[in-house]
Amino acid sequence: MIHPNLTVVDHPLVQHKLTIMRDLETSTAGFRRLLREISLLLAYEVTRDLPLETRKIRTPMEEMDAPILEGKKLALVSILRAGNGLLDGVLELIPAARVGFVGLYRDEETLQPVQYYNKLPSDMDARTAIAVDPMLATGNSSAAAVDLIKEAGARDIRFLCLLAAPEGVKRMAEAHPDVPIITASLDRGLNEKGYILPGLGDAGDRMFGTK
Ligand code: URA
Repeated sequence: MIHPNLTVVDHPLVQHKLTIMRDLETSTAGFRRLLREISLLLAYEVTRDLPLETRKIRTPMEEMDAPILEGKKLALVSILRAGNGLLDGVLELIPAARVGFVGLYRDEETLQPVQYYNKLPSDMDARTAIAVDPMLATGNSSAAAVDLIKEAGARDIRFLCLLAAPEGVKRMAEAHPDVPIITASLDRGLNEKGYILPGLGDAGDRMFGTK
């Protein structure tokens, strides 16, 4: 086991959409639409264990004690820039969540993360944090982002990505074994430039049409 808390969402709809996203022939518009759809399905999985309480309501038929979210506060943290592609769909499902941003770019020589932005909600210690980044590659940026989220006070943190490489999962397991990872696929590995194989290329370029 490379991470004690790794969940690969093997739902057929997720796998189908992911295959189309990986395909080189898929357009920017198609990629973006699928990313939004898949992020809704992944959001469903990352929130699976949110606590419920009961509320007394009246249906047209009778009174009942009905389950409702306990109201634990959530913060979504997008790891820029590709994180924004996952953020939109997750936010659609959890519209009341606060949103933070962590800007990290990868130095292409050292593959180490360089921070250029950090804006998180002020009460992170009171929130469940969901960090979103489509690609868990070397894990260096992801681990650094989770460092910042922990420094801001959050203790209950989950990491949501589209693809994960074994190297990144291992790095996260070493740095943050307490942070569950939810992904649509555990891919084969990384190339010499730190890109995921078979992967889908540069997620930011694919979703924003840059190259
Ligand atoms: N970031 C990407 O966008 N793609 C990869 O394959 C790895 C990191």
